[in-house]
Amino acid sequence: MPFRLALAASVGVALSALLAAESEPPLRREALAKEHDLAAGERVFTIVCAACHADEASGAPLVGDRAAWVPRLEQGLGRLVRRAIEGYEGPAGEMPARGGDDTLADAAVANAVAFLADRALAAPSG
Ligand code: HEC
Repeated sequence: MPFRLALAASVGVALSALLAAESEPPLRREALAKEHDLAAGERVFTIVCAACHADEASGAPLVGDRAAWVPRLEQGLGRLVRRAIEGYEGPAGEMPARGGDDTLADAAVANAVAFLADRALAAPSG
């Protein structure tokens, strides 16, 4: 039955390709760069967010830590932006509203979240 075997093998390949695609976050760096100002996001990050998101002791998911961000990104960027704007208490600690800077506009926070997402997706996995 060589034909059946080949068929089974190709179904297996197609399935694993599908599963691999599904485990990728539903976000692409191209789309992030198109829809957000990543350079402005980096500036906000450096001034406000880095205090926690670049300090392991804070418990916050660190910039460039792909493993920490991918499960969060799978919730959708919109949800992350909303939680960054409103603030919330999570198992890893408190994420203050707007990172604690009330002067940040919603778009500025969104740019910073997009920058964090971009750095996570640019990082090597594993
Ligand atoms: C005082 C520390 C602190 C500052 C400053 C801070 N964060 Fe956070 N942030 C946290 C912690 C801690 C968490 C993890 C909370 C959890 O999920 O348990 C977090 C989580 C997040 C998340 C993940 C949300 C989710 O739903 O998983 C995003 C996005 C985020 N922060 C964005 C930002 C941005 C953007 C800034 C700057 C404007 C910022 N944070 C500044 C501490 C901080």
